[in-house]
Amino acid sequence: MVDVILGLQWGDEGKGKIVDYFAPRYDVIARFQGGPNAGHMLYVDGKKVVLHQIPSGIFHENKINLIGNGVVLDPVTLKRECESVASFGINYRKNLFISKRTHLIIPTHRALDKASELSKGNEKIGSTLKGIGPAYMDKTGRNGLRVGDLLEKSFTSQYIKLRLKHQKLLDSMHFNDDISVWEDEFLEAIDFMREFNIVNGEYFINDKISKGQKVLAEGAQGSMLDVDFGTFPFVTSSNTISAGVCTGIGVAPQQIKDVMGVTKAYCTRVGSGPFPTELDNEKGELLRKVGQEFGATTGRPRRCGWIDLVALKYACMVNGVTKIIMTKADVLDAFSELQVCTNYEVNGKKTDEVPFQMTRVKIVPIWESLNGWNKDITHLRTPQELPEQMHHYVDFINKYLGVNISFISNGPGRDQLIEI
Ligand code: GDP
Ligand code: IMO
Ligand code: MG
Repeated sequence: MVDVILGLQWGDEGKGKIVDYFAPRYDVIARFQGGPNAGHMLYVDGKKVVLHQIPSGIFHENKINLIGNGVVLDPVTLKRECESVASFGINYRKNLFISKRTHLIIPTHRALDKASELSKGNEKIGSTLKGIGPAYMDKTGRNGLRVGDLLEKSFTSQYIKLRLKHQKLLDSMHFNDDISVWEDEFLEAIDFMREFNIVNGEYFINDKISKGQKVLAEGAQGSMLDVDFGTFPFVTSSNTISAGVCTGIGVAPQQIKDVMGVTKAYCTRVGSGPFPTELDNEKGELLRKVGQEFGATTGRPRRCGWIDLVALKYACMVNGVTKIIMTKADVLDAFSELQVCTNYEVNGKKTDEVPFQMTRVKIVPIWESLNGWNKDITHLRTPQELPEQMHHYVDFINKYLGVNISFISNGPGRDQLIEI
């Protein structure tokens, strides 16, 4: 049996905290896509930790964590992260497994990412520049290197061949940054990785399932950044939606049970691209300040706005969401009036659908105003204690989406999650 936790917006919904919270109920926690573009922040022993590559179940003893084949893996980030996790007394050599089929991010992928963004000028994606797009291109283009290749004698020659191919591309893009430091770190990290538990991930996970163990699949990014269903081309390069779980760890669709979609009580986006409910004013500023909306991977300020129910309903549809988890509800404590977007006006026509193309059309959100609760909720622990206006906010969203909010997060702490 596999349950899924994934983001319903443009990422940073608080997936890391939620996976860490639910991990004790599962045997295996598996990342199924994305790479070090992700930044999942958790609090462990009161200390902040940001995970980019390692699943967010790593801090729980006796839980297996698997980096699935759908992930793209940067050995340098992995090594650094393992060192950070070890400083908490975690034995990652025992609990962390990597699929042989996981593709590697090599230094020239990062260089190509940078060169590609530079060449786009004003139309840049706002990539995290971690090499994600180029690494997935090499996967679908059938050129990439995989973790299993590390164990073969021919790895160095395979690496040199791919690197040369990249160099030609970089030369044609007139990109000549010195990346020798990245390469030194990479080669060191490659040696470190050879000592890992490298497994046939698809057999590994199906074997656990057949023994009755429970798997939690952890998504990165969000549904609106999905390469097929997101705001293309301003998306990431993987399938972030629940369908990505099957291809990203090698499980059949009928194994998937709950799809738990995480949404903020409002909305954020980092990087470029359409964001219909963005508030480019003092309210957006206030959301950013109260919500501390700065990227966990790049430190960039996140763009902020009200919740977008049109996009959220679409995300529920493409994911088959069974439960919604609403995070950062406490950030709305600062407001006496809340707005929710219930429709878009696209080129003057009202619609409740996400249009095929969101960049070259004018999208005006149509709002519904609701009362805010305007008081501190961070200390509350039961649904009965929640303010009436908040119940109304939640009911309004449940009715619109046709899926219920089952948990409300009212602070970053492990104890700040209320089951409704
Ligand atoms: P992820 O990428 O989806 O894991 O989310 P990030 O970790 O990038 O961003 C979410 C941020 O919100 C982190 O700094 C969390 O510590 C924080 N956070 C999570 N849940 C809550 C919440 O309910 N309230 C507040 N105030 N912060 C939260
Ligand atoms: P988590 O898992 C928010 C965004 C980037 C950029 C676009 C493409 O922490 O929610 P890429 O580096 O993939 O080429 O960037 O996607 N992006 C994220 N935004 N949270 C993330 O991950 C993101 N990962 C990528 O800002 O707009
Ligand atoms: Mg994040």
